[in-house]
Amino acid sequence: MKKTFVALALIALSLFTVSAQEPKPSPKRIAIKAGRLIDTQAGTVINNAFILIEDDKITAVGPNVSVPAGTEVIDLKNSTVLPGLIDCHTHVTSQPENFYDDLFRKSHIDVAVTAHLYAKRTLEAGFTTIRDAGSSEYIDIALRNAINAGKVVGPRMHVSTLALSATGGHGDLNGFSPYLSFKGFENIADGPNELRKLIRQNIKYGADQIKLIATAGVLSEEESVGAPQYSQEEMNLVVEEAKMWGRKVMAHAHGTEGIKRATRAGVASIEHGSFVDAEGIQMMKERGTYLVADIYNDDYILAEFGKLGYPAKIIEKERLVGRTQRENFQKAVQAGVKIAYGTDAGVYPHGWNGKQFFHMVKWGQTPMQAIQAATVNAADLLSVSGKVGVIAPGAFADIVTVDGDPLKDVTELEKVKFVMKGGVVYQR
Ligand code: ARG
Repeated sequence: MKKTFVALALIALSLFTVSAQEPKPSPKRIAIKAGRLIDTQAGTVINNAFILIEDDKITAVGPNVSVPAGTEVIDLKNSTVLPGLIDCHTHVTSQPENFYDDLFRKSHIDVAVTAHLYAKRTLEAGFTTIRDAGSSEYIDIALRNAINAGKVVGPRMHVSTLALSATGGHGDLNGFSPYLSFKGFENIADGPNELRKLIRQNIKYGADQIKLIATAGVLSEEESVGAPQYSQEEMNLVVEEAKMWGRKVMAHAHGTEGIKRATRAGVASIEHGSFVDAEGIQMMKERGTYLVADIYNDDYILAEFGKLGYPAKIIEKERLVGRTQRENFQKAVQAGVKIAYGTDAGVYPHGWNGKQFFHMVKWGQTPMQAIQAATVNAADLLSVSGKVGVIAPGAFADIVTVDGDPLKDVTELEKVKFVMKGGVVYQR
């Protein structure tokens, strides 16, 4: 009896000391005074608004919000304020320097060691969230986890890890002796069993979505850009398997037939979309498939990749794609296909992610539509609506500014001045 009482008293005491020692810390409060605020959801501009932030989230927004006494105020009354931008197609872990050196002198370890640099540049350019489109050796997973743990500076990352490629496909090493191969985790999968296994393995180690290489590409040495590289049955199975594990599929697809197969299979987005035809556009529209078209890339590849030692064959393939991709992007915009912003940054320097806005406006979008592609639409594609891509109560305090008016001159978004991610200021 006595023993029980002592024990209970000790428990009560220890409970008391625990609660006395660890009072809930009061939240960190910040108020941002925004000269012009872009409401990405409504597609409108609000003048002289306040944004209230508690820890990493937004709690209130609007012109009539009152700021509690003692709140730290960040004065951005001379700026245009918008939600952190989202790039739905990056390869943030690397960047080409020289074709042969990258292939034969560097290892995955070199890539892993420098990846954090590119993550930081991406964030500082105003891109607070990215969907990364594939990486070797699970480097993207390690990077994402280090960023989430606060050890490395970078954007929120949705990673694909090993991109599913057919033997001889865009994701395979082509054009060399059959005796040449590199050690590493295999991203080649043919047929149902291998595809299911690779998808399950990707998810086991931390993939947020599945990247399917549905057709031939540009920056690889297979024969023809755009040829389908998986059968309809294989693509159907990939989407079905990914869905079972709660994952969406993003499909690299330049070619007319491959775009249709991937769309029919039910992928969430077509990446590149270069040779989409009227029927493909109609199919995408009907199914709500997003188009993520990297329409800045062409300029950079034609200007620089010869100097980087890329084989002439690859540069020739780019010439087939560049202009047609832009024209077809315009047709898709006009038809009302859902568009999300995705650049393929990593083909060109990380941190230049904002350069594509200009091209999206040149090829058919209004500046507001292009901004929505990089905010609300991108968030929808990434299944994180309401959390990112908006400045609204409950969303992460991911906030960027530019000096001028991006609705008049969208290239303002190439010069982001202030970057906050999760209530922490990274760039001012
Ligand atoms: N990663 C893509 C590929 O190799 C890049 C395509 C770049 N060209 C373009 N016009 N978007 O296929």
